[in-house]
Amino acid sequence: MTFDEAKAKLEKYGQLHVLKYYDELTDSQRQELLTQIDETDFEVLKNCANLGKSEGRGQFAPLAAMQVSEIEAKKDEFTRAGVKALKEGKIAACLLAGGMGTRLGSDNPKGMYDIGLTKPVYIFQRIIENLLDTVKQAEGSYIRLFIMTSEKNNDATIAFLKEHDFFGYPQDKITFFKQEMAPASDYDGKVYMEGKSRISTSPNGNAGWYSSMLKAGLRDLILKEGIEWIDIFAVDNVLQRIADPCFVGATLTAGVDCGAKVVRKSAPDEKVGVMCLEDGKPSIVEYYELSQEMMDAKDANGDPAYNYGVILNYMFNEKALFEIAKKELPLHVVEKKIPYIDENAELVKPEAPNGCKFEQLVLDMIHMLDSCLPYEVVREHEFAPIKNKEGVDSVESARELCKKNGIEL
Ligand code: UTP
Repeated sequence: MTFDEAKAKLEKYGQLHVLKYYDELTDSQRQELLTQIDETDFEVLKNCANLGKSEGRGQFAPLAAMQVSEIEAKKDEFTRAGVKALKEGKIAACLLAGGMGTRLGSDNPKGMYDIGLTKPVYIFQRIIENLLDTVKQAEGSYIRLFIMTSEKNNDATIAFLKEHDFFGYPQDKITFFKQEMAPASDYDGKVYMEGKSRISTSPNGNAGWYSSMLKAGLRDLILKEGIEWIDIFAVDNVLQRIADPCFVGATLTAGVDCGAKVVRKSAPDEKVGVMCLEDGKPSIVEYYELSQEMMDAKDANGDPAYNYGVILNYMFNEKALFEIAKKELPLHVVEKKIPYIDENAELVKPEAPNGCKFEQLVLDMIHMLDSCLPYEVVREHEFAPIKNKEGVDSVESARELCKKNGIEL
């Protein structure tokens, strides 16, 4: 893109301040900035006006989960079906590691965090060790592991995993791809600059993975390898079970488009998204959208009707995803702390939220599908997220849960 074209594009979106330092830049910095202007979708910025506004949800209804008791009763049947699919190479896993991990406050990718006490135990290591359990159950069949990074953490992630020899996972079974980015702005929709030649950007949300995968040209690999299902999972749950045969088998047997691991809520008002139906299609209701009436609602057995929280572990039918990828996912505006350069071009890392990021969310992806099986897992065995430095969902709470599961730290 030429300077004039960039200027015209910025003018159209009221973003001319992006060129404030253009005259001072070196040739290569100028080129970088022009490329970024070319690639940036400034259209998203108009969504700033929606910050804090209700996103207009449909009619909610409960969606029954397959409970642990039922899973236990059918464990052998599900496991057999899962092992078969794993051995046939129909199942892949995708680690979502594109997030910024701002709450944890480390500059490194979250997976590099060491939770060990007497020896190093990295988050990435825990995840690969858990995936190797699946490989073992599948009698040595390694499954394709996609790892989504972002342009902010890609190089550090790959270098770290290489340095640790991928914690024993064969390198030729791992495929990295980068998540698409979205610009970040102040509350008036003016993009922040994170350097004189760089617009502030952030990864485009936890549902950005599939479109990013397609953009990276990975559909060919999916088809070539005969992958039919992809289990996506968050980087920060150190007890994460990945594509475990019983979950795989239950999802396949149910004939649904998607399986979702859920945990029983610890309290009616626990801050977790809850699996439900919305206008008759699977969806997730956020904790702050749950009315008192919904919290009090009971199912046929007298148990709370909205009782199963999602843990960001979903197994998607790839063909179903490919169909919905033709439609646009909605964009959500979230208030976040965004580093920026001030009027003296000094980098500021704000202590409090100072603007908007724009994200696509997995809940919209699920809502576009026809069916979903909520599959209950035991929280103490499968859910130890590390979101914060201290307190709830922290390194400390995750360590406690690891110990309870006999994992040496
Ligand atoms: P979170 O929603 O906890 O976000 O991500 P985060 O970026 O890791 O952390 P904070 O909010 O800045 O503290 C849940 C999972 O989704 C991935 C994260 O890497 C994590 O595995 N994720 C999130 C992405 O891969 N891309 C995104 O754009 C957002």
